[in-house]
Amino acid sequence: MEELHRIVKARLGHDILFGYPHALRVMENAEHIAERVEVNKNIVRIASLLHDIAFDGKNVVSHAEESAIAADKILKELGIPSDKRIAIMNTIRKHDFRVWEREGEPKTNEEKVVSDAENIERCSPQGLVKFIIIASKLPTYKDSGDIIRAASKFINKAYASLFFEVSKERAKESFEASKGFLEMLVHNVS
Ligand SMILES: [Fe+2]
Ligand SMILES: [Fe+2]
Repeated sequence: MEELHRIVKARLGHDILFGYPHALRVMENAEHIAERVEVNKNIVRIASLLHDIAFDGKNVVSHAEESAIAADKILKELGIPSDKRIAIMNTIRKHDFRVWEREGEPKTNEEKVVSDAENIERCSPQGLVKFIIIASKLPTYKDSGDIIRAASKFINKAYASLFFEVSKERAKESFEASKGFLEMLVHNVS
């Protein structure tokens, strides 16, 4: 596990929203949920730590699939057996709800836990700021109003996509803070 932390730090860097600190927060969320749900904790721990390993700030739509492939390569080099690697790959791929439209929703508890762990972060203030930073660099949105509306949709979808009660409890306070912030923002600029 120590070696994996070292690899994630080296690849993702120390940015508080995009780097290793994000991977760590998602892992902590996953571990918290895994205390109350029946899962293979080892798979959850590894998949959550590596869930965004190939994210570069631009590959928003494909980052889950790319991270699954990159994680598999890392784990193969560390001698992790293929059955475990497959479970970890599937868990990483399904952590992003954009993948669900093509491949269906998470099925295993491991997949659901890591998806929840990411969505708890997504609907929090740090997730909201992250969305705005990423969106402001994409050609998809025509102006600030467009980004604010998309951000609101995104955090609501993240919260609505949570599978477990324990995840909703953990997300609730920071989701309410993000929602309140967006409501005030919309109110003040419209
Ligand atoms: Fe993430
Ligand atoms: Fe992600």
